[in-house]
Amino acid sequence: MKSIALLTLITLTLMGSDGYKVYQDNCMKCHVEMMSKSEVLKSFKFLKAPPMVEVSNKIKNNIRIMDEDKDVKRRVVIAFVKDYIENPSIQYSMCDPMALEKFGVMPSLKGKLSEEQKQAVAQWVYDRYEGKMF
Ligand code: HEC
Repeated sequence: MKSIALLTLITLTLMGSDGYKVYQDNCMKCHVEMMSKSEVLKSFKFLKAPPMVEVSNKIKNNIRIMDEDKDVKRRVVIAFVKDYIENPSIQYSMCDPMALEKFGVMPSLKGKLSEEQKQAVAQWVYDRYEGKMF
């Protein structure tokens, strides 16, 4: 039994980074994972950044792909998130202007995450909220 647990651990390590773990270690202090719109309004002044559920939905809604090809869309959204981690900018932010004024632009995390970690967390941002209505 012990060897199965060990094998699972090794497999997980070899498979690369766990996106949720990367989120917890690097994003969670600013982006809460889940929050309803009414909670956001109530606790707006205590927030440091838009909740991740909003970030994910906003980007998915803003990025339109011809024929609504899901695989292409997923790739483009993931690429945007990955890039934003290192190159946040007022020009590319999809955050609404009022929120942007309150939060300011996200500080760059350049050099803090490996390629695998950026990929894993960007995939997590897409997949975590996929197919559910929040
Ligand atoms: C120090 C606080 C802070 C940390 C840490 C942080 N962010 Fe952000 N992030 C912000 C703020 C503030 C905004 C909203 C302003 C903006 O769009 O730049 C934002 C915006 C974003 C956006 C763009 C949303 C949009 O609508 O355009 C993405 C994507 C994002 N964050 C992903 C991440 C990921 C992934 C991590 C962790 C790897 C992370 N952030 C860590 C503060 C943070």
